[in-house]
Formats: sequence, C-alpha cells, structure tokens
Amino acid sequence: MERTCLAVILAAGDSTRMKSSKSKVLHPVANRPMIAHVVEAVAHTDISSVALVLGRDAEAVAKAASIDGVEIETYLQTERKGTGHAVLAAREAIARGYDDIIVTYGDVPLQTDAPLKAARQALADGSDVVVIGFHSDKPTGYGRLLVKDGELIAIREEKDATDAERTVTWCNSGLMAINGAKALDLLSRIGNSNAKGEYYLTDVVEIARSLGARVTAVDAPEVEMTGANTRAELAVIERLWQERRRHALMISGVTMIAPETVFLSYDTVIGQDALIEPNVVFGPGAVIDGGAIIHAFCHIEGAHVSAGATVGPFARLRPGADLAEGSKVGNFCEVKNARVGEGAKINHLTYVGDARIGAGANLGAGTITCNYDGVNKSETVIGAHAFVGSNSSLVAPVSIGDNAYVASGSVITEDVPADALAFGRARQETKPGRATGLRERALAIKAAKKAKG
Ligand code: UD1
Ligand code: CA
Repeated sequence: MERTCLAVILAAGDSTRMKSSKSKVLHPVANRPMIAHVVEAVAHTDISSVALVLGRDAEAVAKAASIDGVEIETYLQTERKGTGHAVLAAREAIARGYDDIIVTYGDVPLQTDAPLKAARQALADGSDVVVIGFHSDKPTGYGRLLVKDGELIAIREEKDATDAERTVTWCNSGLMAINGAKALDLLSRIGNSNAKGEYYLTDVVEIARSLGARVTAVDAPEVEMTGANTRAELAVIERLWQERRRHALMISGVTMIAPETVFLSYDTVIGQDALIEPNVVFGPGAVIDGGAIIHAFCHIEGAHVSAGATVGPFARLRPGADLAEGSKVGNFCEVKNARVGEGAKINHLTYVGDARIGAGANLGAGTITCNYDGVNKSETVIGAHAFVGSNSSLVAPVSIGDNAYVASGSVITEDVPADALAFGRARQETKPGRATGLRERALAIKAAKKAKG
C-alpha cells in the first residue's frame, strides 16, 4: 500500500477486571505476552510507525512489546480516562500527518493483519472512519454496533445500552481506522458524559457522522477479535490460539493423535511427518524436525529434535537439548544443555545435563551426569559408541572415550580413555553357604523373642 500509516496500540489500562498484580497485556498467550502478539499482527499491516500508549507497568509493557524488527515509539497516558483519551496520548505522532491512523487494543491478542488491512482499504476507498466489527452469539461486555437504514450510526457500550440495544449481536472489536487528516479533530471532540465518565474512542462514530464524514464498518472473524478482560476470557483466548495453531500444523503435515491435548508455544516449530502423541507440552523455543516422534507425556522447551529421533514417553527436554538424527531419549529421562549424537540411546531413568554424547553411545538405565557441585556446572563428554552401564554416576568434569565401557553401578570421577573398561565400585565378595547360616540366626532370634512373650 502506498499510503502512510500510523498504528496506535492502546495498552495503558488498569486491567481491573483481571485482578492481577501486573498489567493485563503482560499476561501470556502461548507463552508470549499478549502485547507482543498484537505488535506482531500490526507489524504485518504495512505501517510506517507504531505508537504504543503506556500507563500501568509502562516499563515492563514496553519491554514485552519490543519484538525484532519493529520500531516502537512510546507515549504515556498519565491518567486512565478511557480509550478516547488514551489515543490522544499519542497526539504528537498523529499530528505528524499520516494518510491512515489505525487504532488497536493490547488486549485483543488473536488479531491478525487481515482486518486492519481491510479497514485501511476502506479508508483508501473514501471512508473517514472504519470500525472493525464482528458477530457473536455471546456479545455481553462488548460495545454494540447500532445500525439505522443500513448505516452504522453509533457504538453503544454495554453499560450505556438499553435492553433493546443489548440484544444486538454485532460487536465492536475495538480496532478502528481513521482518516489521518481528520483524526485529531475528530478525537479532540470526544467527551465523557456516559455511565463510566470516560472518554470513549467509540464516540468517534457519532461525532464523525454529525460532521458529515463517512463512517463504515468491516467484519472480522469472532475468533480473532475476542478480547481478554478477565482470567476466564484469557483461558478462552488461549484455547482458541491453541486450536488455530494445532490446525495449521496438522494442515502442514504434522500428525497429532489427540490434538486437543497438545500444547504449543508461540514459536514452536514442527516439521512435516513428525508424530506428536497425546499429552505433550511445548514450552518456548522447541524445534522438532520432520519425521521425529514425540511419544506421550513429554515436556519440551528450548530443545531441538532431529529427523528420526524419538522422545519419551514421559521425557523432559530442557533448554539446550539437541538430539541428532536417529537418537533416542526414552521414559523418565531429562536432558538439558546437551548434544546427543546420531543414533545415541538414552533409554530410561537418566539425567544428562551439560554434556556431549557421541554418536551411537548407549547410556544404561539410571545414568546420571553429576554436573553441579552446588556452585559450578561442569561438562561430561562421552565418546562415540561408548557404553555406560546402568546406575552409573559420572562426576563432571569427566570424559569417557570412544568405545569405552563403564561397568554398571560405577561412580566415575576420572577420565576413561578410548577403548578402556572402567569399574568405579567396590569389588563383589561371595561367601558360599553363608545364606543358610544367616537365615537360621534370624529365625532363632525371632523364636527367642516369642518365648519371652
Ligand atoms: C472496549 C470498547 C468496546 C469493545 C471492546 C473490545 C471502548 C470505550 N470500548 O471495551 O466497545 O467492544 O473494547 O474488546 O473503547 N486503555 C488505555 N487507557 C484507558 C483505557 C483503556 O490504554 O484509559 C486500553 C486498555 O489497556 C486496553 C484497551 O485500551 O488494551 C481497551 O480497554 P478496555 O478497558 O479493555 O475496554 P473494553 O471495556 O474491553
Ligand atoms: Ca477489553
């Protein structure tokens, strides 16, 4: 689009209904603050500048809103006097003169660029104010779009609406586009004579009409326009986000057996032909390559799983876990900050932290890398095709050479060279026949006790 555009994002509100010690827009959806989702959508709308209006928790909100590649100017709304008042906190930016001004809210995190683009198109086609509306069979809490003779005549807030107006199911999303040349004049005329005594941005519709300006509406999907005022609404938004992203992944070739039990983060990447079994949770930073298998009940965060690798069931991959092709991390294993080489196997009940595991190595059940001495973390290096017997503790820093063999139950505190066999445990003693004597003594003690009463 050739036209210049300023996007004003409102995020100053007190978040009263959220009942929280922090601003509502900092609450995460898919492990990312709501405000960052909004900035991302706005950034895809071909805008020239972004003005972010801050109030409560200004510093933290500004930080959460800063995403790569998007420059943001911030403005402070020092008193909370409503959305109309909040937009004017960015007066200086609006006064610079843009063809289009778009206004969006920080608490509508599922919005995409499409409705905002449609609203800008409507400005280009001659509208002065374009309201983005949506239809809902649960309109309670939203402003309603009032129509007369086929024209949008006003937006009525729930609190100010008559019973008849409350039955209207066409809702205000809060997103709006305004002719940049007229915006300051229109916004400056907003008053505060309403149930809340606030300056409502929504009044701009009636004001514009009274001045003979052209007001229209465009529709957006309800899913995208859902707002989060309470924790209950936040949970609905999380569900909608998850449904949308799971669907997109399945369409792109990922198999999910019970998608409703798989939880994704905003940045989860899963490749084609990966299989995700039920009850898997992805924290931020997970990259699962095509063809990998994630069995049931895994928690994966900040980790990379290569093609042909399998994880779980019941495995935890923490930040820095990097599983090479064909490797295997099985049940009740935890891997953190560790490269697991091609075809290496870590099958059961094992902790691998701060380590490098060579290709084809095999770690027996209950292997523990003792990476932390209470103060410092140290590294364990295990060579290619090394074999670590069950229930071994590898006290880092320590290395096991290629093809080396560690006997079960060892505590390894010194490096093991390539091809060596290491025992780190007391040698076994066997005493023939001693079991019989031991048992007889025990029985005699029991009988003596009984005789005493
Ligand atoms: C608003 C709309 C309503 C619409 C709904 C959509 C108005 C008057 N009402 O109601 O028609 O259906 O959104 O979700 O606009 N904010 C500030 N400063 C303020 C007040 C609010 O920056 O003084 C910010 C908030 O942080 C929030 C956004 O503006 O991000 C919307 O405010 P909120 O109080 O949530 O408005 P709603 O009551 O939801
Ligand atoms: Ca809201």
